[in-house]
Amino acid sequence: MRNIILTGDRPTGKLHIGHYVGSLKRRVELQNSGKFDEIYVMIADAQALTDNFDNPDKVRANITEVALDYLACGLDPAKSTIFVQSHIEQLTELTYYYMNLVTLARLERNPTVKAEIKQKNFEHSLPMGFLTYPVSQTADITAFKATVVPVGEDQLPMLEQAREIVRSFNGLYGDTLVEPKAVLPDNKSCLRLPGTDGMAKMSKSLGNCIYLSDSADEIKRKVMGMYTDPNHIKVTDAGDTKNNPTFIYLDAFSSSEHFERYLPEYANLDELKAHYERGGLGDMKVKKFLNAVMQETLEPIRTRREELEKDISAVWEMLKVGSEKARGVAAQTLAEVKRAMKINYFE
Ligand code: TRP
Repeated sequence: MRNIILTGDRPTGKLHIGHYVGSLKRRVELQNSGKFDEIYVMIADAQALTDNFDNPDKVRANITEVALDYLACGLDPAKSTIFVQSHIEQLTELTYYYMNLVTLARLERNPTVKAEIKQKNFEHSLPMGFLTYPVSQTADITAFKATVVPVGEDQLPMLEQAREIVRSFNGLYGDTLVEPKAVLPDNKSCLRLPGTDGMAKMSKSLGNCIYLSDSADEIKRKVMGMYTDPNHIKVTDAGDTKNNPTFIYLDAFSSSEHFERYLPEYANLDELKAHYERGGLGDMKVKKFLNAVMQETLEPIRTRREELEKDISAVWEMLKVGSEKARGVAAQTLAEVKRAMKINYFE
């Protein structure tokens, strides 16, 4: 079987460091591993419209931002097909047929969708498009016969639903679709990076994100203002590293080379944590180190992004070429689906 990746993001904002460690970094590594026959990275504008239908300008503007973030992080159009979801109309048609294979009750049970409905106050006016987005996501994945879907942890329920729909389709109409597998980051701290304010989720609406496009000054200001352990008041106090976002970020981003370069008095993060936990290590010192690590990590991404921003039309041209290619692949799968469902009357 061919090894195929499909993954994507909703264009509702610039991408932040949570996206980076949660999935973007992994995608670039997988892209460069040479182990995959095809890689598709989708900007999910149609999905973004399911809860931003009243704000198409926002979705449109963020397609450019997400594409810039992708390229800046090292996704390479020569190796990965980067495309825009709404341009692939076959996805809508697949969604329509898959909709028969899932019940309302099942959709309502999806824990990620459930949480989002609450968070968006959709409880009393739920758009059908929003509730059914996991079905459309199944179309995205299966249209490309993806075997591997590198995503953040919050997407696991989507993958579970996709697998159910695939099994049900293949059971009813014969082996046509491929069951996908999710790939999560190995590092537990990368699964869900908390916000700079210590809230569980980094989110634009909470204003607790560090963006890939942030300037050096913005990064420094955000790191220096981070929430730490509120009970660690005096330097001599014993501190907690577990629920402390500065240490969680260090878990996600720092390496032993960073210690050699910026904090050679500690061999590694375990030693730094041990010192903080027994007392005698100030937050300032930890934040200064974290700032150095973040600056080193984000500087090359930001520089590349600034370069790419000079030619936005080249970015759209890249998306157009990618979308044409993706459309051809999706059309082929749709034809197979229609044949399996015996609705290929005029073939
Ligand atoms: N739901 C994903 C997100 O919110 C975006 C997405 C849409 C996606 N279709 C997908 C991810 C297919 C993986 C596979 O970021």
